[in-house]
Amino acid sequence: MTDSAVIDATRASTPQKPFIKPARPHFSSGPCAKPPGWDAAKLATESLGRSHRSKIGKARLQHAIDLTRQVLEVPDTHRIGIVPASDTGAYEMAMWTMLGARPVTAIAWESFGEGWVTDAVKQLKLNPTVLQADYGQLPDLSSVDQGHDVLFTWNGTTSGVRVANGDWISDTREGLTFADATSAVFAYDMPWDKLDVTTFSWQKVLGGEGAHGVIILGPRAVDRLESYTPAWPLPKIFRLVSKGKLSEGIFKGETINTPSMLAVEDVIFALEWAETLGGLPGLMARSDANASALDAIVAERDWLGHLAADPATRSRTSVCLTVAGADEALIKAMAGALEKEAAAFDVAGYRDAPPGLRIWCGATVDTADIVALGPWLDWAYATAKAAAVA
Ligand SMILES: Cc1ncc(COP(=O)(O)O)c(C=O)c1O
Repeated sequence: MTDSAVIDATRASTPQKPFIKPARPHFSSGPCAKPPGWDAAKLATESLGRSHRSKIGKARLQHAIDLTRQVLEVPDTHRIGIVPASDTGAYEMAMWTMLGARPVTAIAWESFGEGWVTDAVKQLKLNPTVLQADYGQLPDLSSVDQGHDVLFTWNGTTSGVRVANGDWISDTREGLTFADATSAVFAYDMPWDKLDVTTFSWQKVLGGEGAHGVIILGPRAVDRLESYTPAWPLPKIFRLVSKGKLSEGIFKGETINTPSMLAVEDVIFALEWAETLGGLPGLMARSDANASALDAIVAERDWLGHLAADPATRSRTSVCLTVAGADEALIKAMAGALEKEAAAFDVAGYRDAPPGLRIWCGATVDTADIVALGPWLDWAYATAKAAAVA
């Protein structure tokens, strides 16, 4: 082929830019798209510029906790607290305050779970049993020793693999379960009786802000906190216990240190939006519709596939896709072209994951935008491949 023939062939195989763009091209897996209709001007501001310990400050924090309980259908047996440092802060607070009392199993199948394994092995030096699987797979959960404290991530945001349910957790377990559920809550029905510690951040399925984490403690976690003192020192921002008793105020909006009341008002907006959808079932229906629309896009294209091998463990929020023949450069080129066109933002897979795409399908994304994304993925793939050939 002559040079000009190559260029002509490339042109012929490069599709026209699709006509319709996603109205909100926000497909990032965190921070995620704001709820539809969100506008900073719509946030309540009376609590801003006031002490978070003022009557209004505490009332708004308590309101955020109450709405969380309603929308997530958290039973009264479980306490909900707003804590520092996003999901990481909430999860590490749980690890540092409760681990060390029993043997530990740490389960990981992607980057964030690996982070908790590293904490357990290298920082806390707990010598845990480590159960691992490659990106796209889930380890054998039936082998988990129910006498151990168990660390796991409900929805692996960087591989798009989640646990399908909590059936593998025994009702008569002796250990505690620690679920990093940041990209799971508000998208799945969580079995609260199986979860002793659950953590998440507002920046995921709710489309809220980072900065604060939420920790949900079941009664057995509270027993642990009140009966066990770890061997290592605890910084103030991890302390959930005072004089051997749970600091109950934390679970009524008396935060350990100063929260961002703007982030609190923002999450109240998101939670009130969730209530207008009918709460959890409404959120789950939106997420499922998005994931199904993306499934249809994948099924129609032989060059796209799911990284998660088993459909039962495939995420309905952070959906990770394989791209035929892709390396890091091709994915970068695709994501860059989509961003330049304002057709899709932040769709490259996580830096530690195999090269691929990651499309957030949580409730704050509109299904019509997922549908509109399909032809843009074709365009970006063809464009990036043509550029790689040239
Ligand atoms: C599963 C999981 N765990 C932890 C984190 C860290 O969350 P944050 O930055 O809110 O602390 C993330 C963020 O993407 C995540 O997806």
